[in-house]
Amino acid sequence: MNSAVIGLQWGDEGKGKVVTYLSRDYDCVVRYSGGSNAGHTVDYGPFKLVHHLVPSADARLKKGMYIACGVAVDLKVLLEEIEQLESFFPQGSEFLRVSKQAHVVVPFYRELDGKIDSARSEPVGTTRRGIGLCYANRALRFGLRLEDFEDEELLERKLRELARVWNLQIDTKSVLKELIESHRRISHLLIDSVEAFEDLKGKNLLFEGTQGVLLDVDVGTYPYVTSTNCSSTGVQAGFGFPVRLDKIIGVMKAYTTRVGEGPFPTELKGEEGERIRKLGREYGATTGRPRRCGWLDFVLLRYAVKVSGCNEVILTKADVLNGFEKLAVCVAYEIDGVRVRDVKNLRNIHKAVPVYEEIQGWTDLESPSFERFVKRIEQELGVRISHVSTGSRIDDMIAL
Ligand code: IMP
Repeated sequence: MNSAVIGLQWGDEGKGKVVTYLSRDYDCVVRYSGGSNAGHTVDYGPFKLVHHLVPSADARLKKGMYIACGVAVDLKVLLEEIEQLESFFPQGSEFLRVSKQAHVVVPFYRELDGKIDSARSEPVGTTRRGIGLCYANRALRFGLRLEDFEDEELLERKLRELARVWNLQIDTKSVLKELIESHRRISHLLIDSVEAFEDLKGKNLLFEGTQGVLLDVDVGTYPYVTSTNCSSTGVQAGFGFPVRLDKIIGVMKAYTTRVGEGPFPTELKGEEGERIRKLGREYGATTGRPRRCGWLDFVLLRYAVKVSGCNEVILTKADVLNGFEKLAVCVAYEIDGVRVRDVKNLRNIHKAVPVYEEIQGWTDLESPSFERFVKRIEQELGVRISHVSTGSRIDDMIAL
Protein backbone atom coordinates (compact mmCIF):
# COMPACT_ATOMS: atom_id res chain seq x y z
CA MET A 1 0.00 0.00 0.00
CA ASN A 2 1.24 3.49 -0.89
CA SER A 3 -0.11 6.60 0.79
CA ALA A 4 0.63 10.30 0.84
CA VAL A 5 0.21 12.60 3.83
CA ILE A 6 -0.51 16.16 2.81
CA GLY A 7 -1.45 19.34 4.62
CA LEU A 8 -4.92 20.69 3.82
CA GLN A 9 -4.24 24.26 4.95
CA TRP A 10 -1.18 26.54 4.76
CA GLY A 11 1.21 24.04 6.34
CA ASP A 12 1.99 23.44 10.01
CA GLU A 13 -0.98 21.08 10.45
CA GLY A 14 1.14 18.59 12.39
CA LYS A 15 2.08 16.36 9.45
CA GLY A 16 5.41 15.39 11.02
CA LYS A 17 3.80 13.75 14.02
CA VAL A 18 1.16 12.08 11.82
CA VAL A 19 3.84 10.67 9.49
CA THR A 20 5.83 9.37 12.45
CA TYR A 21 2.71 7.70 13.88
CA LEU A 22 1.66 6.16 10.55
CA SER A 23 5.18 5.06 9.58
CA ARG A 24 4.78 1.89 11.68
CA ASP A 25 2.55 0.52 8.89
CA TYR A 26 4.98 1.27 6.05
CA ASP A 27 8.44 0.14 4.98
CA CYS A 28 9.80 3.51 3.97
CA VAL A 29 8.95 7.20 4.36
CA VAL A 30 9.71 9.25 1.25
CA ARG A 31 10.17 13.03 1.10
CA TYR A 32 9.27 14.21 -2.40
CA SER A 33 9.22 18.01 -2.33
CA GLY A 34 10.32 21.14 -0.55
CA GLY A 35 13.49 21.51 1.44
CA SER A 36 14.59 23.09 4.68
CA ASN A 37 11.71 25.59 4.43
CA ALA A 38 9.72 22.76 6.04
CA GLY A 39 9.89 22.10 9.77
CA HIS A 40 8.25 18.99 11.19
CA THR A 41 8.39 18.68 14.96
CA VAL A 42 8.10 15.18 16.40
CA ASP A 43 7.65 14.72 20.14
CA TYR A 44 9.10 11.41 21.36
CA GLY A 45 8.27 12.26 24.97
CA PRO A 46 11.67 12.70 26.63
CA PHE A 47 12.88 14.71 23.63
CA LYS A 48 11.71 16.32 20.38
CA LEU A 49 13.19 16.08 16.90
CA VAL A 50 12.69 18.87 14.39
CA HIS A 51 12.87 17.50 10.86
CA HIS A 52 13.66 19.78 7.95
CA LEU A 53 14.95 17.25 5.43
CA VAL A 54 15.19 13.83 7.05
CA PRO A 55 11.86 12.01 6.58
CA SER A 56 9.81 11.85 9.79
CA ALA A 57 9.83 8.04 10.08
CA ASP A 58 9.68 6.66 13.63
CA ALA A 59 13.39 6.35 14.39
CA ARG A 60 12.68 3.73 17.08
CA LEU A 61 11.43 1.34 14.39
CA LYS A 62 14.37 1.62 12.00
CA LYS A 63 12.19 2.25 8.97
CA GLY A 64 13.57 3.20 5.57
CA MET A 65 13.87 6.92 4.81
CA TYR A 66 14.37 8.29 1.35
CA ILE A 67 14.97 11.87 0.18
CA ALA A 68 13.88 11.77 -3.46
CA CYS A 69 15.10 13.84 -6.41
CA GLY A 70 12.33 16.45 -5.98
CA VAL A 71 13.75 17.70 -2.67
CA ALA A 72 16.01 20.76 -2.43
CA VAL A 73 18.93 19.57 -0.29
CA ASP A 74 20.80 22.00 1.93
CA LEU A 75 23.84 19.92 2.88
CA LYS A 76 24.59 21.87 6.05
CA VAL A 77 21.04 21.43 7.34
CA LEU A 78 21.05 17.75 6.41
CA LEU A 79 24.29 17.17 8.32
CA GLU A 80 23.02 19.00 11.40
CA GLU A 81 19.85 16.98 11.30
CA ILE A 82 21.66 13.66 10.99
CA GLU A 83 23.76 14.70 13.97
CA GLN A 84 20.61 15.56 15.95
CA LEU A 85 19.03 12.23 15.01
CA GLU A 86 22.13 10.25 15.93
CA SER A 87 22.49 11.99 19.27
CA PHE A 88 19.24 10.24 20.26
CA PHE A 89 19.40 7.20 17.99
CA PRO A 90 23.00 6.05 17.38
CA GLN A 91 23.32 4.96 13.73
CA GLY A 92 19.90 6.53 13.12
CA SER A 93 20.87 7.43 9.55
CA GLU A 94 21.72 3.84 8.63
CA PHE A 95 18.49 3.47 6.66
CA LEU A 96 18.51 6.94 5.13
CA ARG A 97 19.17 7.33 1.40
CA VAL A 98 19.37 10.51 -0.67
CA SER A 99 18.87 10.72 -4.42
CA LYS A 100 21.96 11.75 -6.37
CA GLN A 101 19.62 13.55 -8.75
CA ALA A 102 18.36 15.88 -6.00
CA HIS A 103 19.39 19.52 -6.34
CA VAL A 104 21.64 21.28 -3.86
CA VAL A 105 20.87 24.56 -2.11
CA VAL A 106 24.08 26.51 -2.67
CA PRO A 107 24.82 28.73 0.38
CA PHE A 108 24.33 31.99 -1.52
CA TYR A 109 20.77 31.02 -2.55
CA ARG A 110 19.61 32.02 0.92
CA GLU A 111 20.85 35.57 0.59
CA LEU A 112 19.43 35.85 -2.92
CA ASP A 113 16.07 34.50 -1.70
CA GLY A 114 15.90 37.37 0.82
CA LYS A 115 17.00 39.97 -1.73
CA ILE A 116 14.49 38.83 -4.34
CA ASP A 117 11.61 38.75 -1.87
CA SER A 118 12.46 42.22 -0.53
CA ALA A 119 12.60 43.57 -4.08
CA ARG A 120 8.98 42.62 -4.77
CA SER A 121 6.33 45.30 -4.49
CA GLU A 122 4.46 42.84 -2.28
CA PRO A 123 6.80 40.35 -0.62
CA VAL A 124 5.72 36.71 -0.24
CA GLY A 125 7.46 36.44 3.13
CA THR A 126 9.52 33.38 2.18
CA THR A 127 11.43 31.41 4.79
CA ARG A 128 14.63 32.72 3.13
CA ARG A 129 16.08 29.23 2.95
CA GLY A 130 16.91 29.55 -0.75
CA ILE A 131 14.32 26.95 -1.77
CA GLY A 132 12.70 29.01 -4.53
CA LEU A 133 16.18 29.76 -5.92
CA CYS A 134 17.07 26.10 -5.96
CA TYR A 135 13.98 25.19 -8.01
CA ALA A 136 14.39 28.25 -10.24
CA ASN A 137 17.96 27.23 -11.08
CA ARG A 138 16.80 23.69 -11.71
CA ALA A 139 14.22 25.00 -14.20
CA LEU A 140 16.82 27.30 -15.77
CA ARG A 141 19.18 24.32 -16.00
CA PHE A 142 21.90 25.97 -13.93
CA GLY A 143 21.23 23.84 -10.88
CA LEU A 144 23.80 21.74 -9.03
CA ARG A 145 22.83 18.15 -8.43
CA LEU A 146 24.39 15.86 -5.86
CA GLU A 147 25.73 13.69 -8.69
CA ASP A 148 27.80 16.66 -9.95
CA PHE A 149 30.13 16.20 -6.98
CA GLU A 150 31.55 13.13 -8.72
CA ASP A 151 33.39 15.49 -11.09
CA GLU A 152 34.97 18.37 -9.18
CA GLU A 153 36.00 20.22 -12.34
CA LEU A 154 32.43 20.22 -13.58
CA LEU A 155 31.25 21.29 -10.14
CA GLU A 156 33.61 24.26 -10.10
CA ARG A 157 32.58 25.26 -13.61
CA LYS A 158 28.90 25.13 -12.67
CA LEU A 159 29.44 27.15 -9.53
CA ARG A 160 31.31 29.86 -11.49
CA GLU A 161 28.50 29.85 -14.03
CA LEU A 162 25.92 30.33 -11.28
CA ALA A 163 27.88 33.26 -9.83
CA ARG A 164 28.07 34.79 -13.32
CA VAL A 165 24.36 34.34 -14.03
CA TRP A 166 23.33 35.90 -10.72
CA ASN A 167 26.04 38.56 -10.96
CA LEU A 168 27.63 37.68 -7.62
CA GLN A 169 31.16 38.21 -6.43
CA ILE A 170 31.78 35.07 -4.46
CA ASP A 171 34.87 33.27 -3.36
CA THR A 172 34.19 30.18 -5.50
CA LYS A 173 37.08 28.23 -4.01
CA SER A 174 35.87 28.55 -0.44
CA VAL A 175 32.21 27.82 -1.35
CA LEU A 176 33.43 24.79 -3.26
CA LYS A 177 35.57 23.62 -0.35
CA GLU A 178 32.65 23.88 2.07
CA LEU A 179 30.28 22.03 -0.26
CA ILE A 180 32.76 19.25 -1.04
CA GLU A 181 33.48 18.73 2.66
CA SER A 182 29.75 18.49 3.47
CA HIS A 183 29.15 16.19 0.51
CA ARG A 184 32.00 13.91 1.61
CA ARG A 185 30.26 13.38 4.94
CA ILE A 186 27.02 12.16 3.35
CA SER A 187 28.41 10.44 0.25
CA HIS A 188 27.73 6.96 1.69
CA LEU A 189 23.99 7.77 1.76
CA LEU A 190 23.72 8.71 -1.91
CA ILE A 191 21.95 6.57 -4.46
CA ASP A 192 20.79 6.97 -8.06
CA SER A 193 17.02 7.54 -8.23
CA VAL A 194 16.59 4.50 -10.49
CA GLU A 195 18.37 2.23 -8.05
CA ALA A 196 16.27 3.58 -5.17
CA PHE A 197 13.13 3.00 -7.24
CA GLU A 198 14.15 -0.60 -7.86
CA ASP A 199 14.97 -1.15 -4.18
CA LEU A 200 11.58 0.26 -3.18
CA LYS A 201 9.52 -1.78 -5.64
CA GLY A 202 6.87 -3.84 -3.88
CA LYS A 203 7.43 -2.01 -0.57
CA ASN A 204 4.80 0.01 1.27
CA LEU A 205 5.67 3.67 0.83
CA LEU A 206 4.47 6.63 2.83
CA PHE A 207 5.02 9.92 1.00
CA GLU A 208 5.56 12.80 3.40
CA GLY A 209 4.18 16.06 2.07
CA THR A 210 5.52 19.42 3.13
CA GLN A 211 3.69 22.76 3.51
CA GLY A 212 0.02 22.45 2.51
CA VAL A 213 -2.36 22.46 -0.46
CA LEU A 214 -2.96 26.21 -0.10
CA LEU A 215 0.79 26.80 -0.52
CA ASP A 216 1.03 24.65 -3.67
CA VAL A 217 2.55 26.62 -6.53
CA ASP A 218 -0.34 25.81 -8.91
CA VAL A 219 -3.47 25.33 -6.83
CA GLY A 220 -2.52 27.46 -3.80
CA THR A 221 -2.93 31.18 -3.16
CA TYR A 222 -0.47 32.15 -5.91
CA PRO A 223 1.79 34.16 -5.75
CA TYR A 224 1.77 33.74 -1.95
CA VAL A 225 2.86 30.12 -2.18
CA THR A 226 5.96 27.98 -2.03
CA SER A 227 7.85 27.02 -5.17
CA THR A 228 6.76 23.39 -5.54
CA ASN A 229 3.73 21.17 -6.04
CA CYS A 230 3.58 20.32 -2.38
CA SER A 231 0.07 18.86 -2.80
CA SER A 232 -0.44 15.20 -3.75
CA THR A 233 0.14 16.02 -7.43
CA GLY A 234 3.83 16.51 -6.67
CA VAL A 235 4.38 12.92 -5.53
CA GLN A 236 5.20 11.31 -8.87
CA ALA A 237 7.42 14.09 -10.20
CA GLY A 238 9.21 14.50 -6.88
CA PHE A 239 9.74 10.76 -6.51
CA GLY A 240 10.80 10.62 -10.13
CA PHE A 241 8.70 7.59 -11.06
CA PRO A 242 5.09 6.56 -11.51
CA VAL A 243 3.49 5.44 -8.31
CA ARG A 244 -0.09 4.51 -7.49
CA LEU A 245 -1.43 6.08 -4.31
CA ASP A 246 -3.95 3.95 -2.45
CA LYS A 247 -4.67 6.68 0.07
CA ILE A 248 -4.26 10.44 0.11
CA ILE A 249 -4.43 11.38 3.76
CA GLY A 250 -5.13 15.04 4.43
CA VAL A 251 -4.07 16.57 7.74
CA MET A 252 -6.05 19.52 9.09
CA LYS A 253 -5.87 21.52 12.28
CA ALA A 254 -9.03 22.39 14.20
CA TYR A 255 -8.29 26.05 13.41
CA THR A 256 -6.26 27.78 10.71
CA THR A 257 -2.76 29.26 10.67
CA ARG A 258 -0.55 30.84 8.10
CA VAL A 259 3.05 32.14 8.10
CA GLY A 260 4.20 34.71 5.61
CA GLU A 261 2.03 37.03 3.58
CA GLY A 262 -1.10 36.43 1.53
CA PRO A 263 -4.88 36.30 1.93
CA PHE A 264 -6.37 34.65 5.02
CA PRO A 265 -10.13 35.27 5.19
CA THR A 266 -10.72 33.91 8.71
CA GLU A 267 -7.68 35.52 10.32
CA LEU A 268 -8.21 36.78 13.89
CA LYS A 269 -6.10 39.86 14.35
CA GLY A 270 -7.05 40.67 17.94
CA GLU A 271 -7.04 38.93 21.28
CA GLU A 272 -8.68 35.71 20.11
CA GLY A 273 -5.91 35.15 17.56
CA GLU A 274 -3.32 35.79 20.25
CA ARG A 275 -5.06 33.32 22.56
CA ILE A 276 -4.93 30.56 19.92
CA ARG A 277 -1.30 31.41 19.09
CA LYS A 278 -0.27 31.08 22.72
CA LEU A 279 -2.29 27.93 23.44
CA GLY A 280 -1.23 26.21 20.23
CA ARG A 281 2.39 27.47 20.47
CA GLU A 282 2.01 28.73 16.94
CA TYR A 283 5.52 29.88 16.11
CA GLY A 284 7.36 28.65 12.99
CA ALA A 285 9.50 25.50 13.46
CA THR A 286 11.90 26.81 10.81
CA THR A 287 11.97 30.58 11.33
CA GLY A 288 10.41 31.09 14.78
CA ARG A 289 8.01 33.63 13.23
CA PRO A 290 4.64 34.01 15.02
CA ARG A 291 1.99 32.30 12.90
CA ARG A 292 -1.16 34.18 11.92
CA CYS A 293 -4.14 32.39 13.51
CA GLY A 294 -7.84 32.20 12.69
CA TRP A 295 -11.01 30.11 12.70
CA LEU A 296 -11.59 26.98 10.71
CA ASP A 297 -12.53 27.66 7.11
CA PHE A 298 -14.75 25.04 5.44
CA VAL A 299 -14.71 26.85 2.08
CA LEU A 300 -10.93 26.49 1.78
CA LEU A 301 -10.91 22.98 3.23
CA ARG A 302 -13.51 21.80 0.70
CA TYR A 303 -11.36 23.30 -2.04
CA ALA A 304 -8.21 21.60 -0.65
CA VAL A 305 -9.93 18.20 -0.38
CA LYS A 306 -11.16 18.50 -3.95
CA VAL A 307 -7.93 19.59 -5.63
CA SER A 308 -5.73 17.15 -3.73
CA GLY A 309 -7.96 14.09 -4.19
CA CYS A 310 -7.81 13.57 -0.42
CA ASN A 311 -9.86 10.55 0.67
CA GLU A 312 -9.24 10.47 4.40
CA VAL A 313 -8.61 13.16 7.01
CA ILE A 314 -6.66 13.31 10.26
CA LEU A 315 -7.66 16.10 12.64
CA THR A 316 -4.95 17.67 14.80
CA LYS A 317 -4.66 20.20 17.61
CA ALA A 318 -8.33 20.11 18.60
CA ASP A 319 -7.07 19.80 22.20
CA VAL A 320 -5.67 23.35 21.86
CA LEU A 321 -9.27 24.60 21.79
CA ASN A 322 -10.32 22.70 24.95
CA GLY A 323 -12.14 25.15 27.20
CA PHE A 324 -13.33 27.58 24.50
CA GLU A 325 -17.00 28.08 25.31
CA LYS A 326 -17.96 29.00 21.76
CA LEU A 327 -16.11 28.63 18.47
CA ALA A 328 -16.78 29.96 15.01
CA VAL A 329 -16.52 28.06 11.73
CA CYS A 330 -16.62 29.67 8.31
CA VAL A 331 -19.29 28.00 6.18
CA ALA A 332 -19.38 30.34 3.16
CA TYR A 333 -17.93 33.58 1.78
CA GLU A 334 -19.46 36.77 0.55
CA ILE A 335 -17.46 37.97 -2.42
CA ASP A 336 -18.55 41.25 -4.04
CA GLY A 337 -21.87 40.91 -2.24
CA VAL A 338 -22.51 37.37 -3.56
CA ARG A 339 -22.71 34.48 -1.14
CA VAL A 340 -20.74 31.38 -2.20
CA ARG A 341 -20.33 28.03 -0.46
CA ASP A 342 -17.52 26.85 -2.72
CA VAL A 343 -14.80 28.51 -4.76
CA LYS A 344 -13.42 27.34 -8.11
CA ASN A 345 -10.17 29.25 -7.72
CA LEU A 346 -8.48 31.36 -5.05
CA ARG A 347 -8.08 34.52 -7.12
CA ASN A 348 -10.60 36.58 -5.19
CA ILE A 349 -10.31 35.26 -1.69
CA HIS A 350 -8.60 38.47 -0.56
CA LYS A 351 -12.07 40.01 -1.02
CA ALA A 352 -13.91 37.24 0.83
CA VAL A 353 -15.97 38.20 3.86
CA PRO A 354 -16.41 35.02 5.91
CA VAL A 355 -19.89 33.88 6.85
CA TYR A 356 -19.56 32.34 10.30
CA GLU A 357 -21.64 29.92 12.26
CA GLU A 358 -21.16 29.70 15.99
CA ILE A 359 -20.67 26.23 17.43
CA GLN A 360 -20.43 25.00 20.98
CA GLY A 361 -16.92 24.42 22.32
CA TRP A 362 -15.75 21.41 24.34
CA THR A 363 -13.96 20.90 27.61
CA ASP A 364 -12.10 17.80 26.44
CA LEU A 365 -12.00 15.51 23.43
CA GLU A 366 -14.44 13.09 25.02
CA SER A 367 -17.22 15.69 25.22
CA PRO A 368 -20.33 15.10 23.07
CA SER A 369 -19.83 18.58 21.60
CA PHE A 370 -16.44 17.50 20.25
CA GLU A 371 -18.01 14.41 18.72
CA ARG A 372 -20.51 16.73 17.02
CA PHE A 373 -17.64 18.87 15.74
CA VAL A 374 -15.99 15.81 14.15
CA LYS A 375 -19.27 14.79 12.51
CA ARG A 376 -19.77 18.34 11.28
CA ILE A 377 -16.35 18.37 9.59
CA GLU A 378 -17.09 15.05 7.88
CA GLN A 379 -20.40 16.41 6.66
CA GLU A 380 -18.96 19.68 5.40
CA LEU A 381 -16.00 18.07 3.62
CA GLY A 382 -17.58 14.81 2.53
CA VAL A 383 -14.55 12.85 3.77
CA ARG A 384 -14.11 10.48 6.68
CA ILE A 385 -11.98 11.49 9.67
CA SER A 386 -9.83 8.42 10.41
CA HIS A 387 -7.84 9.71 13.39
CA VAL A 388 -7.86 12.52 15.91
CA SER A 389 -4.59 13.68 17.38
CA THR A 390 -5.02 14.34 21.11
CA GLY A 391 -1.66 15.85 22.03
CA SER A 392 1.85 16.49 20.79
CA ARG A 393 3.41 13.06 21.43
CA ILE A 394 3.57 10.44 18.68
CA ASP A 395 1.09 8.09 20.31
CA ASP A 396 -1.39 10.77 21.32
CA MET A 397 -3.72 9.63 18.61
CA ILE A 398 -7.18 8.01 18.51
CA ALA A 399 -8.21 5.90 15.54
CA LEU A 400 -11.92 6.41 14.86
P1 IMP B 1 9.39 29.53 0.69
O1 IMP B 1 8.86 28.15 0.59
O2 IMP B 1 10.50 29.69 1.71
O3 IMP B 1 9.75 30.11 -0.65
O4 IMP B 1 8.20 30.48 1.26
C1 IMP B 1 7.02 30.72 0.52
C2 IMP B 1 5.81 30.76 1.45
O5 IMP B 1 5.57 29.46 1.97
C3 IMP B 1 5.98 31.68 2.67
O6 IMP B 1 4.73 32.23 3.00
C4 IMP B 1 6.41 30.71 3.77
O7 IMP B 1 6.09 31.18 5.05
C5 IMP B 1 5.56 29.50 3.40
N1 IMP B 1 6.14 28.23 3.86
C6 IMP B 1 7.18 27.55 3.34
N2 IMP B 1 7.40 26.41 4.02
C7 IMP B 1 6.46 26.35 4.98
C8 IMP B 1 6.15 25.39 6.00
O8 IMP B 1 6.77 24.33 6.14
N3 IMP B 1 5.09 25.70 6.80
C9 IMP B 1 4.35 26.83 6.64
N4 IMP B 1 4.62 27.75 5.72
C10 IMP B 1 5.66 27.51 4.89
